[in-house]
Amino acid sequence: MERRRAPAAPPRYGRRRFWDALYRREGAETREWLGGLSRFLPQLEPELRPGDRILVLGCGNSALSHDLHELGYTDVTSIDFSPACIAAMRARYASCPGLRWAVMDIRALAFPDASFDVVLEKGTLDVLMVEETDPWDVSPQAAAAMRRVLAEVSRVLRPGGCFISITFAQPHFRKPHYAQEAFGWSLRHAACGDGDAGAFHYFLYVMRKGQPLDPRDVALGRRLHQPPSPPAPPPPPAPPDDDEDYLLAIQL
Ligand SMILES: C[S@@+](CC[C@H](N)C(=O)[O-])C[C@H]1O[C@@H](n2cnc3c(N)ncnc32)[C@H](O)[C@@H]1O
Repeated sequence: MERRRAPAAPPRYGRRRFWDALYRREGAETREWLGGLSRFLPQLEPELRPGDRILVLGCGNSALSHDLHELGYTDVTSIDFSPACIAAMRARYASCPGLRWAVMDIRALAFPDASFDVVLEKGTLDVLMVEETDPWDVSPQAAAAMRRVLAEVSRVLRPGGCFISITFAQPHFRKPHYAQEAFGWSLRHAACGDGDAGAFHYFLYVMRKGQPLDPRDVALGRRLHQPPSPPAPPPPPAPPDDDEDYLLAIQL
């Protein structure tokens, strides 16, 4: 008798198990989500100072932390919740003592308040949104997960420090999450990419701790956590629009 295989379950990108299995398979390979540092260095570099204490969220097996180190940003801590990933990265860059690695969940950072000058993420917060079916109407669970991570990021940033987020998420979808007064930061963004018409674009968002949000962004952020408005009442019946309909309507 033919044995049927059960259909493969869709990947659960929010699960640690999914990422850990990926990194166990990939070993010491380098995979760059959204491309490497050179693609967004012109937008990133003005935000960095050589002595900055930099935290990289969800580092994966990207070369970003090491490439920053090579450019002279030598105090870089990188975290990921996959133990396989962190073990591979620690071994790969064992000769680089300025690079520190830790297995940690971005929803619960084990660092003291105000301990970093820069927090940087590339493609990591996108994982929180990847299972959403409607980007215009994000589920309360996804919005809460995003809020929890951002609150942690704000907590570990020193006043005047900045959070830099590199993502495909377009401003109308991502800005409402970042534009929350509770985080105590300002918000701006720039498009990055190849620049040619039709070429793919992504975005670099910069949140500066201790600077005010633009009032338009405050309004955008407030709408995110507002309860949905009640459904509109049904419209009144339309009047018949010609004589025949009218005669029908009065049952003649
Ligand atoms: C799309 S990959 C991006 C990897 C890397 N930042 C890059 O640019 O190539 C997302 C990474 O975030 C990590 N990640 C996802 N959720 C996480 C969480 N809650 N805490 C820590 N790391 C997480 C995954 O293990 C994965 O390495």
